[in-house]
Amino acid sequence: MTDVNGLSIAILGGTGDQGKGLARRFALAGHPVLIGSRSAQRAQEAADSIGAGATGDENAAVAARADIVIVAVPYEGHKALLESLRGELAGKIVVDCVNPLGFDKQGAYALPVEEGSAAQQAAAVLPDSRVVAAFHHVSAVLLMDPAVDKVDLDVLVLGDDREATDLVRALAEAIPGVRGVYGGRLRNAHQIEALTANIISVNRRYKAHAGLRITDI
Ligand SMILES: NC(=O)c1ccc[n+]([C@@H]2O[C@H](COP(=O)([O-])OP(=O)(O)OC[C@H]3O[C@@H](n4cnc5c(N)ncnc54)[C@H](OP(=O)(O)O)[C@@H]3O)[C@@H](O)[C@H]2O)c1
Repeated sequence: MTDVNGLSIAILGGTGDQGKGLARRFALAGHPVLIGSRSAQRAQEAADSIGAGATGDENAAVAARADIVIVAVPYEGHKALLESLRGELAGKIVVDCVNPLGFDKQGAYALPVEEGSAAQQAAAVLPDSRVVAAFHHVSAVLLMDPAVDKVDLDVLVLGDDREATDLVRALAEAIPGVRGVYGGRLRNAHQIEALTANIISVNRRYKAHAGLRITDI
């Protein structure tokens, strides 16, 4: 497995549930974690709430400083934010966990994305970055819960750059209980993002925080 020890991780939109949850687990695993936000003050408050050495700053500042950058903003703000950070993100591994979903009375449903998926949109907007799709199905509630020692799921990692997907698989395994599994090329990210709508339905029906496991590997 690729060695990810000591790599710093920035999280764009790290003030939200998913960003803070991932930040907490990576900080606990010993990674330098940089929380990003549109507001340096909100970022600092989120970093303080996580502890474990996490720091906070504006999205552009943390994107420029970190080795790996995770995108954890709502789909609505995804494209514009990445367009604004093209320079800072050049040459970096950018990990997209964004699920383009709508919600109505029937629950969650997948939104159409012109580029095919949020991850492909990121790749289109960031031609000089190494875009990887991962962490779509991991529950922010479990990531944040101090009573949860192990998060019981496989994280599917997709991308067109094998070295980058191997690195993100190893990073996923910094979270106790998680296994990182290669899940295909970026052109197949749509199904992974859309599947989150099904998992949300499972969670509502069974009052759970469900995760996926891939068998026989
Ligand atoms: N929640 C989960 O369990 C979960 C699981 C897997 C994947 N995801 C994905 O992770 C992403 C974040 O989820 P979340 O629940 O953490 O969302 P969230 O709390 O609604 O948003 C996260 C952060 O994004 C920033 N933000 C909001 N609108 C923005 C915009 N228009 N442009 C730039 N930044 C904006 C905000 O930070 P500032 O105001 O501080 O800038 C906010 O705190 C989503 O795409 C979601 O599909 C979530």
